Amino acid sequence: MPSNAPEIKIVADVAQLNRTAADEFLTAAQSSIRARGRFCVALAGGSTPRGVYSLLAEDQSNPEKRLPWEKVFVFFGDERHVPPDDAESNYRMARESLLSKVPIPQQNVFRIAGELDANIAAAQYEQQLLNFFHIGPEEWPQFDLIMLGMGPDGHTASLFPDSPALQENHRKVVANWVEKFQSYRLTFTLPLLNHAAEVMFLVSGESKAEVLKDVLGSAKKAIYPCQRVRPENGRLLWIVDRAAAKLL
Ligand code: 6PG
Repeated sequence: MPSNAPEIKIVADVAQLNRTAADEFLTAAQSSIRARGRFCVALAGGSTPRGVYSLLAEDQSNPEKRLPWEKVFVFFGDERHVPPDDAESNYRMARESLLSKVPIPQQNVFRIAGELDANIAAAQYEQQLLNFFHIGPEEWPQFDLIMLGMGPDGHTASLFPDSPALQENHRKVVANWVEKFQSYRLTFTLPLLNHAAEVMFLVSGESKAEVLKDVLGSAKKAIYPCQRVRPENGRLLWIVDRAAAKLL
């Protein structure tokens, strides 16, 4: 069992969560670029990160926070099984709030092809990861930062409770059938998440408080998917606002 305990930052509200998360992103990016000449990040989907991405875009008008976007490589930890212009698309959300507002080369953005057959999209994205990181199928890419959210059922990325992907130990990206949506989702697998140099969870709102109490509180065994995200040799950071943390 990985030894590193999660770091928990409880912030006052969503505005503070956005600021804290954006600063964490910038720090991780600057450090990775300094050390390795590039920053490989997997963005979270859902609604919480939108404010962080918008703030990151605004930050680019500040020379002290400006990133060399040609050295930033953006991936997605999961995607809905929809085309890129669909309102449900995580790519669309990131494009609207960040990627269309910063000078990142198009070839530095790796979108999951949610418009394709789900299994083909997963296999294609997995191959893109192997190619980008120059590794074989038995090796694991190490992202400098993976951003994640947490659903009110304790899911993260598209790893939903009782879904098949939770058992996947070899693949990096899979098509995961989600019963409650009666649809596929494309998602990073737990081992890929746990090979990250840093995982940052962003959790906001009272609707998450009950589950967060179990996830970060006294619960001994991992009953929720997000509890199984424990980077083997990486940092685990939770940035949560007071509403989500009210039962901690
Ligand atoms: C997605 C996300 C998902 C999200 C959580 C939290 O595709 O929806 O990957 O894991 O992070 O559901 O979503 P909110 O930020 O909207 O609460």
